[in-house]
Amino acid sequence: MSQIFDKDLFHNQLSTRWLGRDFEYLTKVNSTNSYLKKIPAKQIKHGRVVIADNQEKGRGQHQKEWLTEPCENLTFTLALKPDRAEGLTLLTLSCALAVANVLKYYSKKPVHLKWPNDIYSGQKKIGGVLTECSFLGPKPEKVLIGIGININQEEFYEDSVQQAISLFQLTGEKFKREEILAHILNRIEQLYQSWTDRDSVVHKEISKSLIGFGDWIRLSVDNEIIEGRFKFLGVNKKGELLVLNEKLELNTYSHEQIRIITGSESISKVH
Ligand code: BTN
Repeated sequence: MSQIFDKDLFHNQLSTRWLGRDFEYLTKVNSTNSYLKKIPAKQIKHGRVVIADNQEKGRGQHQKEWLTEPCENLTFTLALKPDRAEGLTLLTLSCALAVANVLKYYSKKPVHLKWPNDIYSGQKKIGGVLTECSFLGPKPEKVLIGIGININQEEFYEDSVQQAISLFQLTGEKFKREEILAHILNRIEQLYQSWTDRDSVVHKEISKSLIGFGDWIRLSVDNEIIEGRFKFLGVNKKGELLVLNEKLELNTYSHEQIRIITGSESISKVH
């Protein structure tokens, strides 16, 4: 039986200093990102978190929908006000890494990041991140990091664009969403500090979690395959993709449209 989000249970598990201390729970909203987008930055505190049990118009990357069953999953947005714009991709990846770490802990199974913003277990997507920023001159005035994670949903529509999986499907167990959310925010706050300190641990840990890390891969931009193979070295301090080409020259890519094609997928797309 689905249960509404229990705020007290969540607060009891939260050990952050600032993240999620300003917390808003909505039973229903179009999208937590769209909801926070409408609120002027001045009225938003750094670290505010908005969660909804039911998102009627959840949005994913590339104008796709993010639709999941009410009260079964986690759909929430963090509002952050970092001092710098540099490395925002790394910040998004840090949040995805926090989610992957926590899902790995609960599922006892490998959970990886898929460039740029996806969280995968095996061949299936278990979560995703949608970051939207507004700027005041060169400085970000509001960074909205929207996170969707499949927790207790028992099945997904067959025509889900990317094959989806939930924590329940991975483990056969149902989980307390409140506990998982608190755990994720605790971890994001730590990683945010490392990101602010420009600690190199962050991009190294992210790199190791990325699907294809250390492999020879192919790259595509807007579905066009880039010629040649590349050795995937992960991400640099800015969160840019780092690869060696076949002549062993170092290339970086920051373009969000870049896709990494690994393993058997690379063979079927090329031949
Ligand atoms: C993706 O993988 O395409 C990103 C999915 C992001 C979904 C989350 S759910 C909470 C927040 N509100 C939205 O409308 N989208 C993000």
